[in-house]
Amino acid sequence: AEIRITTRDGVERPVAMTPGYSLMEAIRDAGIDELMALCGGSCSCATCHVFIDPEFADRLPPISEDEDDLLDSSDHRGPTSRLSCQIPLSDALDGLAATIAPED
Ligand code: FES
Repeated sequence: AEIRITTRDGVERPVAMTPGYSLMEAIRDAGIDELMALCGGSCSCATCHVFIDPEFADRLPPISEDEDDLLDSSDHRGPTSRLSCQIPLSDALDGLAATIAPED
C-alpha cells in the first residue's frame, strides 16, 4: 500500500503506508524532513500540517478540539487542513494523497 505526498517544491513522492502508523510517521520515515513534527506527534506543535486531497477528506477521523485550535493558529489553514500526526493509517486510506503545508 502506498500514499502520495507532495512536498513544498511541488514534487509528488510515493510513501509506503504501514497500517498502525500515523501519516506523520509515514512521511518522516520516508525521509521527507521538511515536515518538522517538532512535538513528535502529541498534537501540540502544528508543524505536521498537511492538506488532504479532498477525495479522501471525509474518510478521516474527525478533528479534535485541540487539533482544530492548532490548525487555527496556522496562517495557511485550508478546507482540508489536518495535522498528519492525528491521522492513523489504515487500508481504507490506501492511495491517500496529501500536500505538505507551507511553513508558518
Ligand atoms: Fe506536533 Fe503533529 S507532530 S502536532
